[in-house]
Amino acid sequence: MSHETIIVELAPGLSGALKTIARITSVQRTGIHVMAKPLNVGLVGGGKGAFIVHAHQKGIHFDGTRRVVAGALFPDPKVALEEAAAWPYPIKGYGSYDEMIAANAGLPADDKLDYILIVTPNFVHYDPAMKAMKAGIAVFCEKPLCLNLKEASGLVKTSRKLGVPFGVAHTYLGHWTSRFARYIVRRGLLGDVRWVDSYYIQGWLATRLEATGQQQASWRVDPTRAGASGCGGDIGTHALMQLRYVTGLEVTHVAAQMETFVEGRMLDDHFTVYCRLSNGGKALVRASQVCIGHKNDFGIAIAGTRGTLLWRQEESERITIHLPNQPDRVYWRGAVSPGDGFLPKDVPADLLAEPTIPAGHSEGFHDAFARLHRSFESDVRTWKVGRPFNIDGSKYASVEDGWMGVAFIETCVKSKKKHGAWTAMPRGI
Ligand SMILES: NC(=O)c1ccc[n+]([C@@H]2O[C@H](COP(=O)([O-])OP(=O)(O)OC[C@H]3O[C@@H](n4cnc5c(N)ncnc54)[C@H](O)[C@@H]3O)[C@@H](O)[C@H]2O)c1
Repeated sequence: MSHETIIVELAPGLSGALKTIARITSVQRTGIHVMAKPLNVGLVGGGKGAFIVHAHQKGIHFDGTRRVVAGALFPDPKVALEEAAAWPYPIKGYGSYDEMIAANAGLPADDKLDYILIVTPNFVHYDPAMKAMKAGIAVFCEKPLCLNLKEASGLVKTSRKLGVPFGVAHTYLGHWTSRFARYIVRRGLLGDVRWVDSYYIQGWLATRLEATGQQQASWRVDPTRAGASGCGGDIGTHALMQLRYVTGLEVTHVAAQMETFVEGRMLDDHFTVYCRLSNGGKALVRASQVCIGHKNDFGIAIAGTRGTLLWRQEESERITIHLPNQPDRVYWRGAVSPGDGFLPKDVPADLLAEPTIPAGHSEGFHDAFARLHRSFESDVRTWKVGRPFNIDGSKYASVEDGWMGVAFIETCVKSKKKHGAWTAMPRGI
């Protein structure tokens, strides 16, 4: 890849000596205002065998413009400090997220943590998110946003009132192919959307893994720590988000079946929801954790009046388009030609520039996290220098998107209690 010379934009007030011309790759041209100081991130959760923190922290460090500097990694203060001391690079350890937030609350904006990343089980999302916003720290929070709609509404209202950036980690929006699929569908290239099948199928909970004490399984099957739905909350919310992100349509009504196949479990491990869409179309949002052999089989099929789009997370470098009476078109990340007879000539340049490496050099899960953090960084930097920012959900899920995920789960639970009767979704907050 060729390197290009561009003038780097600096924060107001930085010394003239720093006003330099930097050589950066197109990786860094994708919306970041490169500044002298990397953004500082504090972790909430991530110690002792934790899972998703590791993909996040790789994504945070991807560009050199963000770094993890602190963490409250475990509920027990002593273990939290030990885990921070054992972190693979130096970070400031705190005994609790309360301590970490309080230590930063009074600092000048330049010195305090720029954002916290919440990677705790679902029942420990609301409290640190709320406290961080009140301390003037931006929040990037794992999904589902929180346990229930009361908490979710509180988070949306506080983020709006205080004007603090808030993102939700719906990982798969970070694939370039998801963003390209969004462009194709919202530009009307498939015609009107008639039918969507958004599915997330796994098999890792096909047995009572939680009985072995397996960490990730244990809290996911417990309603007090996971919320009102197991499988639906954990991965059904990703399937809903992918549908909404790509199509721009809302689910207006649901008819939900929430099954528990593995005996002794309190929450669903299989989740099937027939949906009415805001344009009159229909959709299936389905998820399962008991389908042996399916690893992370997440995908979406969107059928419109002119064609169908297929995307699968396990092959996330490409999108397939079916058009009537034509051979299939396969679009690879980084290798698309506007004006090819399907794509218009005016595909946005910033979308085309977003891949980090040329086609054929694979991107994947970690790149998706990096793209989310890169986009969040851009909004946090804008906020930090006092400029207006607009989290519109086009680059990562907003707190309102998180709210919609929680609303979806609550509406599905209501429908399930009425034996799958059609039930209206709230319109939004
Ligand atoms: N976006 C994705 O693709 C994705 C994938 C997996 C998990 N997740 C979400 O990420 C979150 C974490 O999931 P996971 O699988 O990594 O869980 P995990 O059990 O592997 O890790 C959770 C971590 O939080 C810590 N923790 C719990 N309470 C704490 C507290 N009070 N203070 C500090 N740390 C605390 C635990 O000790 C552990 O380190 C969940 O909300 C889950 O839904 C998202």
